[in-house]
This record gives sequence, C-alpha cells and structure tokens, in this order.
Amino acid sequence: MGPHPAAAHAAARDSACVKSRLCQALVPLMMKAGYGRVVNVSSSLGQLNGMTDEERVPAYQLSKAALNAVTLMVADAALGKNVMVNSVCPGWTRTDLGGPDAPQSAEEGAVTIVWLATHPNGGPTGGFFRDKKRIKW
Ligand SMILES: NC(=O)c1ccc[n+]([C@@H]2O[C@H](COP(=O)([O-])OP(=O)(O)OC[C@H]3O[C@@H](n4cnc5c(N)ncnc54)[C@H](OP(=O)(O)O)[C@@H]3O)[C@@H](O)[C@H]2O)c1
Repeated sequence: MGPHPAAAHAAARDSACVKSRLCQALVPLMMKAGYGRVVNVSSSLGQLNGMTDEERVPAYQLSKAALNAVTLMVADAALGKNVMVNSVCPGWTRTDLGGPDAPQSAEEGAVTIVWLATHPNGGPTGGFFRDKKRIKW
C-alpha cells in the first residue's frame, strides 16, 4: 500500500465529510419541497466489491467508499420524498485529476451525472451507477 500524492490530495479536498455536511444542509430543504436530485461523484476505486491494493491510492479509495456510504444513508433518509440520491463513477476522464491519457472527454464523463441530476420523478435512488447502469458497491 503506497501513497499517490495527487490522489491523496484529491481525497483530502473531496472528502465524504464535506459531501455529508452538504447533504445535511440541503436534503431537508429538498424533502420539504418534494423534489431533489443528489449525485455524488464517486469512483469505482471505492467499490468494496473486489477492493484491492493494486491501484495504490488507499486514501482516495477510502474516501470514495465512505462517500458511497453517505449516498446510502441519505437516500434512505429521503425515501418517499421524491429526492433521488445516487453515486456515480464517471469513468477515467481527461481532467486535471485523470490526466491527458484518459480515454474519454469531460463531456463524456458527465453523461451519467447529468442523466441522474435531471432524471424524471420515480427514478432510481440509493444506487451506484456507471455508464447509466447500476454497478456493485
Ligand atoms: N477524472 C477521472 O478519471 C475520475 C475518475 C473517477 C472519479 N472521478 C471523480 O470525479 C470528480 C471530479 O474529478 P475531476 O477529474 O474533474 O478532478 P479535478 O480535475 O481535480 O477537478 C476537481 C474540481 O473540483 C474542484 N474542487 C475540489 N475540491 C473542492 C472544494 N473543496 N471546494 C471547491 N471546489 C473543489 C477543483 O477546484 P480547483 O480548480 O479550485 O482545484 C476542480 O475544479 C472527483 O470527485 C473525482 O474523484 C474522476
């Protein structure tokens, strides 16, 4: 297990605690309004299913696993209120974090995020998605 400076920095800034506090502030207002969409941008590196040491970014992996737990808890708290709460892995994407060798553009990486953020009522909640399909936690 070894540190990767860029991913460790991203994990520290992009912590599940920050997302959790944001949800605590905003989701009650969404529930009151009877409408809301929360899309937590996670990563398949946070999947507990098949979690390995191969990627060598433990802080990042832990932060995304924790974020996915936040998604499950907030989705449960908001059940029946038309507030859909999901996690997404955008896939390896050409950004500052993903670097120039990633196979897809930022626009392509945003597709599933936008799909869930604009989903009509009655859609999925408490799920983890990639390429508009459910993936394992
Ligand atoms: N790129 C990939 O291949 C990939 C794959 C899987 C998951 N993801 C996830 O997708 C999300 C977006 O990643 P990215 O590739 O776009 O990363 P990025 O290139 O590092 O960009 C992250 C953006 O978030 C902003 N940001 C980070 N922490 C912030 C904070 N505390 N307050 C305000 N703004 C903050 C940064 O602002 P500054 O410009 O000011 O730093 C930057 O604009 C992340 O959650 C990442 O873990 C990315």
